[in-house]
Amino acid sequence: MSLDQFKVYVTRVIPQPGLDILNANLKHVKLNTADNILSREELLENIKGLDGLLSLLTERIDGEAMDAAGPQLKVVANHAVGFDNIDLPAATERGIMVTNTPGVLTDATSDFAWALLFATARRIADADKFTRALKYDGWGPMMYMGGDITGRTLGIVGAGRIGVAMAAKSVGFKMRVLYSDEFRNEKLEQEVGARKVAFEELLNESDFVSVHVPLLKSTHHLFNDDSFRMMKKTAYLINTSRGPVVDEAALVRALQTGEIAGAGIDVYEDEPKIHPELIKLDNAVLAPHIASATIETRGKMATMAASNLVAALKGERPDNLLNPEVLDD
Ligand code: DGY
Repeated sequence: MSLDQFKVYVTRVIPQPGLDILNANLKHVKLNTADNILSREELLENIKGLDGLLSLLTERIDGEAMDAAGPQLKVVANHAVGFDNIDLPAATERGIMVTNTPGVLTDATSDFAWALLFATARRIADADKFTRALKYDGWGPMMYMGGDITGRTLGIVGAGRIGVAMAAKSVGFKMRVLYSDEFRNEKLEQEVGARKVAFEELLNESDFVSVHVPLLKSTHHLFNDDSFRMMKKTAYLINTSRGPVVDEAALVRALQTGEIAGAGIDVYEDEPKIHPELIKLDNAVLAPHIASATIETRGKMATMAASNLVAALKGERPDNLLNPEVLDD
């Protein structure tokens, strides 16, 4: 079948470099120009008869969606490194290739985790609101005191690409780095002097705990009442991974009762909803899932997702194929 015959749907406006690749290679590219999150019904309707889907993390691509597309669906190219929105076994079962965008957002995401760490420890968001409200009437020795960063202990939960980049950037701040992960990361140990410890020890000892694990059954609510009890009262939690890794109600309790000092949060348990009490807390800095949102990085993600999709439709092996077994059979 020629590339010209394939039908592709892009579920939301993505940066132009990605759209350019699709349009240069394919004749039938449909784009949701409304630039809103598709409802389930809209997704199931628009997916019908497709050969390729360029999806976002906001769409649940499960067996039902794949069946709604039909047996000709060959590839789902996710515009994200995380792919917990896609039922990978269901895709593999149906011979559908699934791809993601690893590597290109490592720096942007880890930079943003640092931005949240600084904003949280040094109370920047709250101080900004205060200043704009014209409440600043002169320097005060007790005003907006936060927590030190330089020389403190940074705990990295999940030593994948982004966790390692976060750790590497701590060097200038002369931090002690602990990490917890299933696997030992010798490079991280040699280059940053990081020490692998049990999750509980990391919680006990860290001044900043930064979360970088994917969302899996085993990481769902990894942070719960027990974990927050194990953290220092002066510690901060930073989450740029996936919302459901943190039990949001437990986080609210920990922040309200002073079990931890603060939290910098980019992702939520039930996005785009946010726990109503979390919004009221001054010791939380909240962002709308924008850790990878730089012009350069989002451009690279779009390019990568589009290239993966085109490669799959050409019958080639896409660079970022998550289920190579569909080609091996
Ligand atoms: C991802 O890629 O998984 C992020 O959450 C969004 O960039």
